[in-house]
Amino acid sequence: MNASPEAGWLNLLIGLLQGAQLQLLRVLDTLGLVVQAHGQPAWPWALRLSGENLLIDLGQARRLGFTLVLLAAAVLVLLLSLLWRRRRLVRTGLLALAALLVVLAPWPAANVVLVPAYPTSFQQSPTGFSAGSIERGRVLYAAQCAACHGADGRGQGPLAASQPVWPPNLAGPLLWRRADGDVLWHVMNGMRDRRGAPTMPAFGRALRDEDAWALIDFMKAQGAGESLRAPACGPSPSHRPT
Ligand code: HEC
Repeated sequence: MNASPEAGWLNLLIGLLQGAQLQLLRVLDTLGLVVQAHGQPAWPWALRLSGENLLIDLGQARRLGFTLVLLAAAVLVLLLSLLWRRRRLVRTGLLALAALLVVLAPWPAANVVLVPAYPTSFQQSPTGFSAGSIERGRVLYAAQCAACHGADGRGQGPLAASQPVWPPNLAGPLLWRRADGDVLWHVMNGMRDRRGAPTMPAFGRALRDEDAWALIDFMKAQGAGESLRAPACGPSPSHRPT
């Protein structure tokens, strides 16, 4: 994960995906077409394009990159064919070329690129990752979360063993790879397993939005600190692409 030749285009691609979806959400919000969730415009779909998975699956990231380039080319050729007035044959040829580009594009696997989304998936933290917010999160974490997740976030709290699934290790890079808005949703609304049985409890009644953002700041700070202390644990947050 250190500065590899891929890092440049991959960061660009992930930034593009994230930026395009965020802009789409802003436009929908300006037009009054979306509702609000936790104080910010809500993502209206159950899926979104994921940048996170591309970090893990470079092959799919390449496919997506090539597909986007070919799609852009197809749009250009399509425009050209619409503007081409003189010869019918040329116009039809250009249309066929546009279609061919779309068909031949190395489309990436849908289950890698499309991931489940929540209304808060694209929300950004209002805290500025400040020391005050991290400290506030620390106090809340000790009171409400440590029993399962453990004081150090490694998932070894006294209640951990009695949970339906083991709490994940928050002291590694996990949260730095998640969208903040997805984590917010998980904390406020809880999590469920594939069959719909609750795994992580919902804290929407006990916490205000600011509390949940503060908790996310604390957990990320703690995860960053722990991964720096144990280099074998994974990439440090400074290598996060976005
Ligand atoms: C009763 C035990 C319990 C408590 C209390 C608890 N959690 Fe969890 N938490 C879990 C379990 C179990 C999971 C794993 C759920 C899964 O993967 O389906 C989890 C998962 C998580 C995740 C991972 C989310 C992700 O995106 O993968 C985060 C973040 C988290 N909890 C934060 C918190 C915070 C913050 C609190 C306190 C406000 C808290 N938890 C309190 C049991 C608990």
